[in-house]
Amino acid sequence: MPAPSSRAEFSPDEIERGEILFRRPCKFLKGVVDAAGLPSPRRLELAFAGRSNVGKSSLLNALVGRKALARTSNTPGRTREINFFELGDEVYLVDLPGYGYARASKKEVGAWNRLIRSYLKGRAALGRVFLLIDARHGLKATDKPILELMDLSAVSYQGVLTKADKLKAGEIESVADAVARELATHPAAHPELIVTSARTGLGLAELRAAVAGLLGQ
Ligand code: GTP
Ligand code: MG
Repeated sequence: MPAPSSRAEFSPDEIERGEILFRRPCKFLKGVVDAAGLPSPRRLELAFAGRSNVGKSSLLNALVGRKALARTSNTPGRTREINFFELGDEVYLVDLPGYGYARASKKEVGAWNRLIRSYLKGRAALGRVFLLIDARHGLKATDKPILELMDLSAVSYQGVLTKADKLKAGEIESVADAVARELATHPAAHPELIVTSARTGLGLAELRAAVAGLLGQ
């Protein structure tokens, strides 16, 4: 059955290129707490952004086939730094701290938000942001400021639904359609979604293909 039009489609060649890319070694480069600590922009950077606990670090681990490369947690607010990972010798995968974490102190929220915003706003090497959205919840009010910032800064971004294993197939379709419709109103958003589960591996091959497709552009 062909994927509905709100979903990104990839050819067997594109999938193969993704698999080859992600067979390369991936290693942690550094964790960054302020703009001054950012590595020099030598490589294409692809970042994983989204609300706290949406599954950014888990998805990154699943993509590279490692259980604990990026630290994950049941407790929202686990990732507090911008973590850079080197994949092969061409690309940095960037795990961002989550936003919208209600229980953090005002001071912490302010510092993380400043860090995320300064990264998203002014990073020439940033090729695309994968905006992770929990498939159970869809887009929320806390996503809006980040969407607006990326629209204003012309940062290309693509929606990725996470934790699809928590939903039935029909439910996934309706969330995917609703999110795709909303993102279609945003100028910097890529129109097609990728639906994933770090738990079952759903959509990982497609996400790898999307990453590989951004190299050498
Ligand atoms: P912060 O760093 O706090 O912003 O969170 P994060 O977005 O990096 O989320 P993280 O990967 O730490 O995962 C948060 C929780 O969701 C953990 O308990 C994970 O086990 C769970 N989780 C992540 N991905 C999936 C998934 O695909 N399916 C299910 N069922 N649970 C998942
Ligand atoms: Mg994390």
